[in-house]
Amino acid sequence: MHEAIDRILVSEEVIGHRIDVLAGKIMEGGVDDLMIVVLLKGAMVFGADLFRRMPVRLDLECMNISSYHGGMKSSGEVKFLDVGMPDFLGKRVIVVDDIFDTGLTMEAVCGVIKGAGASSVESCVLLAKDKERGVEYTPDYVGFTIGDEFVVGYGLDYKGKYRNLPYVGVLREDVI
Ligand code: PRP
Repeated sequence: MHEAIDRILVSEEVIGHRIDVLAGKIMEGGVDDLMIVVLLKGAMVFGADLFRRMPVRLDLECMNISSYHGGMKSSGEVKFLDVGMPDFLGKRVIVVDDIFDTGLTMEAVCGVIKGAGASSVESCVLLAKDKERGVEYTPDYVGFTIGDEFVVGYGLDYKGKYRNLPYVGVLREDVI
């Protein structure tokens, strides 16, 4: 375990088993015109492990979205950082993200993709925080529900660091 980590919340092994299940469920929903959209940067690790368990014909896209701007709380402002947009027309789109916190990011992204002509838009998140939210939106596929605490690893960062840790963990308080 990395010295900055207080405790591991979800191990690499447990994550792997859960992703097997999530990939299976997504494919059960149909693989025609399937498009996986990975939200950068946080979902790059989860997304790569998820779509490699889906050996079907699919389109893969990434979108660069930011709402935390490196800190510990959502800024409340969802920024679309890409210049252009993928072509979503007629696609069954699965938006993949590492964590569902306030829900603002996923609600905004799914709204934009639906508005761009996707035939359906679903979401798959590795982690969902168990908390009250201002948004009505609920993710379609959830890996793990966690408490309302700040976590890093497996794609999740604190000030840009710790994304490379292979597990989800809680930072030691004195590191923050
Ligand atoms: C984080 C995370 C999600 C989003 C979730 O992204 O990766 O995309 O915030 O928060 P929300 O449910 O409150 O909207 P961040 O802005 O930190 O960018 P990153 O993916 O590059 O780390």
